[in-house]
This record gives sequence, structure tokens and C-alpha cells, in this order.
Amino acid sequence: MPKMIFLERDGTRREVDAPLGLSVLEIAHKHGIDIEGACEGSLACSTCHVIVDPAWFPKLARPTEDEEDMLDLAFGLQQTSRLGCQIVMTEQLDGLEVKLPAASRNLLNG
Ligand code: FES
Repeated sequence: MPKMIFLERDGTRREVDAPLGLSVLEIAHKHGIDIEGACEGSLACSTCHVIVDPAWFPKLARPTEDEEDMLDLAFGLQQTSRLGCQIVMTEQLDGLEVKLPAASRNLLNG
């Protein structure tokens, strides 16, 4: 099974199983990693924001315009920011590393 790595806010590095076809958000939830994902992947929030390791960023499918619009609203936006619910695990992404941003804003709860 592929693996992926989450760098948590306190600097902890967690390597977890990453089943094919699951999104980074779903994988985080499966392992109790603190990414909110308030809209459960329907591109209506930015609380699943993650910062992708620069070495991995070019390997991801390009974000859709909807994702880019939503990302613009994320706190702490960086060059390699993506929405975790839009990154789907494939064989090619085995070893993917993402960092949790320092803070997120939940638009659903104002
Ligand atoms: S969970 Fe809301 S946009 Fe990803």
C-alpha cells in the first residue's frame, strides 16, 4: 500500500498508509490527523488546506479553477498550497509529503 507523510503543526512527522483512490483529506481523517475539511470535499471551504512538499508539488494533477478560487481564501497560502480533498492518492504519489498550515479559516461557521 502507498504511504504518505503528514508534517503536523507541532513538527511531528507522521507516515501513514494511504489507500489508492482516497483523498489526502480522507487519509488524514482515517489516521486522526487534524485537518478539518468542513465541507467534506465539495470545494466549499478551505479548511482542508495543506502545503505540499515542493519536490512533490509538480507531480500532482493541476488544481481546477474552483480549487484555485477556494485556495485564495485560505490562510497562510503558500506557493505549493493545495486543498487536501482534491489530491487523490495514486501509485505515483507513494511517499507524498504535505504540511499542515499554521491556521485555517472555517468559512462555513463564519
Ligand atoms: S474539504 Fe472543503 S474544500 Fe476541501
